[in-house]
Amino acid sequence: MLKNYLKEKREFIDNSIKEYLEELKYPPVIAEGMKYAVLNGGKRLRPILLLMTLELLGEDEEKGIPAAVAIEMIHSYSLVHDDLPALDDDDYRRGKLTTHKKYGEAQGILIGDALLTHAFNVITSENQKVASDKIVDIVRLTSQYAGVNGMIGGQMVDIESEGKNIDLPVLQYIHTHKTGKMITLPVEIACIIAGAEAKKKEKLIEYSELIGLAFQIKDDILDIEGDFEKIGKPVGSDTDLEKSTYPSIFGMKKTKEILAEKITAAKEIICSEFQSEKVKLFTDLADYIQNREK
Ligand code: IPE
Ligand code: IPE
Ligand code: MG
Ligand code: MG
Ligand code: MG
Repeated sequence: MLKNYLKEKREFIDNSIKEYLEELKYPPVIAEGMKYAVLNGGKRLRPILLLMTLELLGEDEEKGIPAAVAIEMIHSYSLVHDDLPALDDDDYRRGKLTTHKKYGEAQGILIGDALLTHAFNVITSENQKVASDKIVDIVRLTSQYAGVNGMIGGQMVDIESEGKNIDLPVLQYIHTHKTGKMITLPVEIACIIAGAEAKKKEKLIEYSELIGLAFQIKDDILDIEGDFEKIGKPVGSDTDLEKSTYPSIFGMKKTKEILAEKITAAKEIICSEFQSEKVKLFTDLADYIQNREK
């Protein structure tokens, strides 16, 4: 059931992204590069979470489309910059050459910048069904979670921690910020759009924080045990760069136990607040994050 749902929503998101990027033409390298970096087979987990949350809250999913597209653009930019020689220096992403390998390094930097900036144009696009005061809240939250108090903060400490022995709070900061914030973002945006009541919002955010941390722990595991054909990015990149990861600090066995704990806790939290049958998508998604091979 979840598999079909993910496939259907992925196609829907891909079409929505295409519609927003279609109009971009000039300069050709930026317009083409933006499409290359986004429309290339990502799982679309973050936009799907936004749509799933709207559905759970009984809200029209169409209202979430601009924000869902914008989040995937910001996520894709973060990957373009993450792969640059100055950061993780990786050559493959989503099974294809990384954006800077395909278009050049200066171009890669600017394509990333353009995706981040254009995302805010998309969030604030005209003719949408969300009230202006809610759009202001969405912009504020997005800039916070993508920026210094979110993803960028995590990325900086990730880079600074290469080759060092860090303790658990620092590792948790890295994972909850570089990855977690961009997974909480769509859930929290859906709560803003739907005007979710405080208790429901609190539980949804707790769920998203747990699956966000679990998602990065699994990413660390796949960097060691994954198959290049499936993950579409190099295996062993973290080890080569002496990254601080859950497996590097706890070993593989304990890492898998921690992953399982986070998944169990996420499922318990969501089931404690929502009883409708739609909650099954959320528990299945947690299992999918634990067991995914890509
Ligand atoms: C990769 O994210 C970077 C991390 C935050 C772990 P995804 O695994 O969601 O990558 P795509 O979007 O499916 O390619
Ligand atoms: C990156 O974490 C998270 C981002 C903000 C892009 P990783 O560096 O582990 O992501 P991958 O493994 O390259 O996708
Ligand atoms: Mg990285
Ligand atoms: Mg990386
Ligand atoms: Mg990784």
